[in-house]
Amino acid sequence: MTPQILSTLKFSAYRIFDETTSHSTWLSKDDSQVAGYEEDGRSAGRFVELTLDDLDPGEVVIQTHYSSVNYKDALAATGAGKVIRRFPCVGGVDAAGVVVSSSDARFKAGDEVIVTGYGMGVDHDGGFAEYVRAPADWVVPLPQGLTLFEAMAIGTAGFAAALSIHRLEQNDLRPENGKVIVTGATGGVASLAIQMLAQQGYHVVALTGKDSEHEYLKSLGATEILSRKELVMGTRPLERARWAGALDAVGGETLAWLTRTMQQNGVIASFGNAGGVELHTTVLPFILRGVRLIGVDSAATAMPLRRQIWQRLSSDLRTKQLEQVAQIVPFNELPLVFPLMLQGKLRGRRVVKIKQPG
Ligand SMILES: NC(=O)c1ccc[n+]([C@@H]2O[C@H](COP(=O)([O-])OP(=O)(O)OC[C@H]3O[C@@H](n4cnc5c(N)ncnc54)[C@H](OP(=O)(O)O)[C@@H]3O)[C@@H](O)[C@H]2O)c1
Repeated sequence: MTPQILSTLKFSAYRIFDETTSHSTWLSKDDSQVAGYEEDGRSAGRFVELTLDDLDPGEVVIQTHYSSVNYKDALAATGAGKVIRRFPCVGGVDAAGVVVSSSDARFKAGDEVIVTGYGMGVDHDGGFAEYVRAPADWVVPLPQGLTLFEAMAIGTAGFAAALSIHRLEQNDLRPENGKVIVTGATGGVASLAIQMLAQQGYHVVALTGKDSEHEYLKSLGATEILSRKELVMGTRPLERARWAGALDAVGGETLAWLTRTMQQNGVIASFGNAGGVELHTTVLPFILRGVRLIGVDSAATAMPLRRQIWQRLSSDLRTKQLEQVAQIVPFNELPLVFPLMLQGKLRGRRVVKIKQPG
């Protein structure tokens, strides 16, 4: 595509606004394009028509083929969490597509690439758009063996799952150490983590609030299922030691319970807060059982480790049943996903199909 064609190109994007400060601006600009989901009085998203000049700067212009929906996107689009740092902002922490132009020598037109995390969809226009313009330093070449669809079926969720497993392994977790529990089990990160762990030979215990999804979790590779509704957490500083490892999507009292039920030298990867941000526990699990609590932040992962994790996602941590976990959402139905995700009603991942055929 020539620079002239690119500069005049008009394309669709799902942009998020702060109603309290920019309502009048976007209504006058895009009043004809109403198709968004709004949550009273805070953030509001809607489809708008943009040109490249409307996007944040970056050396690499990408035609987006797929994006995906992450919990953070749902928080951002609805205002349920104060995630967006700069309004208005095109949503979407993930994008996968094909480079159409690059002023950075590392990339050229035709390259298949992924961009996830960093400021995407938070303080830099993100992946819910037919075109993305990103700093070259954020762009990862699509690893061999993955398609663009698969990269977004994985997305930030799968990246966080793999990064968590990587961190647990760095802290000496091995299948022979004992059981590994995954909380928020039917969610995007956890569904993928269960598959990856099971493929690596771990005995995986899935903790879920959805009693109807036990078969699904077994089909992903969970050996045991715990029902959130039936779980008795107890109140003692140390409860029966049960887990060699834990991947926690939930936070709050679930994470506190995990700290109290880890085995000697057990290690927890804390990556989520679907159930709360507070953590009330004591130091006893840490000083009497040597428990380690590892924080996981995928968005800020530096490029060398980021590439290493994507490499693992396309090799030893590649999940064999991605289609079992990922459903496609047409771009125009994207806003319908956010409330369902925040209510914990979804299972697995939603991949947003952005590029239309032709
Ligand atoms: N740190 C990072 O780099 C990183 C990256 C990606 C995601 N995250 C975070 O990880 C968490 C999960 O993300 P996701 O994309 O997997 O979201 P998701 O697909 O919406 O999954 C969240 C799951 O948590 C469970 N859950 C929901 N509400 C709950 C509640 N009130 N109490 C207990 N469990 C609840 C549900 O599973 P069940 O019904 O099966 O229990 C739900 O499916 C989010 O907090 C997200 O922000 C962090």
